[in-house]
Amino acid sequence: MAAPREIIWQLEPHSRAKHEILRRYLQAWMVILSQGRFPEILYIDGFAGPGEYSGGEIGSPIIALDIALGYRPPLETVIHFLFVEKEAERAAHLRELVARRTLPSNFRVIVEGGITFEDAFERRHSEYVRQGRLMPTFAFIDPFGWTGAPFSLVRKILEQKSCEVFVNFMYEEINRFIGHRDQVENFENFFGTNTWKSCVDLIDRRHRNRCLHDLCLGQLNNVARYVRSFEMSNSHDVTDYFLFYATNELLGLKKMKEAMWRVDESGEFRFSDATDPHQLVLFEKTPNLPTLQAHILANCSGRNIDVGEIESFVLVQTAFRESHYKGILKDLENKGRLRIVHGAAGRRIGTFGDAKLIVRID
Ligand SMILES: C[S@@+](CC[C@H](N)C(=O)[O-])C[C@H]1O[C@@H](n2cnc3c(N)ncnc32)[C@H](O)[C@@H]1O
Repeated sequence: MAAPREIIWQLEPHSRAKHEILRRYLQAWMVILSQGRFPEILYIDGFAGPGEYSGGEIGSPIIALDIALGYRPPLETVIHFLFVEKEAERAAHLRELVARRTLPSNFRVIVEGGITFEDAFERRHSEYVRQGRLMPTFAFIDPFGWTGAPFSLVRKILEQKSCEVFVNFMYEEINRFIGHRDQVENFENFFGTNTWKSCVDLIDRRHRNRCLHDLCLGQLNNVARYVRSFEMSNSHDVTDYFLFYATNELLGLKKMKEAMWRVDESGEFRFSDATDPHQLVLFEKTPNLPTLQAHILANCSGRNIDVGEIESFVLVQTAFRESHYKGILKDLENKGRLRIVHGAAGRRIGTFGDAKLIVRID
């Protein structure tokens, strides 16, 4: 899709999934952080857009704002919103949408218009620093292509504790322009390395796709503890975009998986976890549990292991959610392939809520 020129444009069906995930994740993120020990949190929308689409659907900055406004009881934390939109008219449209809402005194919304994400972050950064550190931040980085989203900025955010990024990697656009001579510097900034050049010459489209994907994954893995990627592809199996989520918090990963697994299926698009080329898992209404069972058996059997470790394995090393593995453990116990080694007192058979429960799978 070419970048639209209008102030507001039509919402593409494939973008709905992106918004759905964002909405679900932020619902969890805001409440976890505000109920936690953080007096202030920051949501950054670095490529905010005008805040709505031509069919009246709301865009990402307004999605975030409305979620925060919708909590009952209301959130008590001070929530900062930094919305950046390079096109002044789009920013003005967004400002209008923000102005229509009644904001409580703990909401601090800034719409930076006519300026790039990079420059706005540089200019505003110090306002969000507390005791020498960026306050807990979720940064949504959603460009049309690759310009203006330098990896150095992503790194700067991720190096801070409790800060995470959600990046839309517009594969289709990037793949189309990556060989262009006049874009070399922009791609260098985007990937934060010049090794992307080795992907360009790959003729096989799947190899090239994987090469560019893995490069991004690798770069993010260098600066964040947990990284997962999600692929949106069309009915011809052509990648439209990848979403990369990078965090240092296991709870964040857990909530993001939850959001991903609830994306509504559409006949036109396929949404999958793409982190590991050897386990591409489709987000379907009925998850492919035999695949997960095979992973559990391969990695967790033949030794005493606590349920917490199995859960971390599932969350970090596989595409599945923590809720998926419990049914598998129950089934293995029913079949006599799992026995309790320690912690059985007072436990109901088939329940695995205690992370310290030690089991053995054979
Ligand atoms: C994909 S759209 C954003 C859509 C929005 N995040 C949503 O989901 O509703 C990208 C927006 O980024 C703006 N943009 C382009 N380059 C930018 C830059 N360097 N900094 C900030 N905004 C930029 C474009 O004008 C466009 O409105």
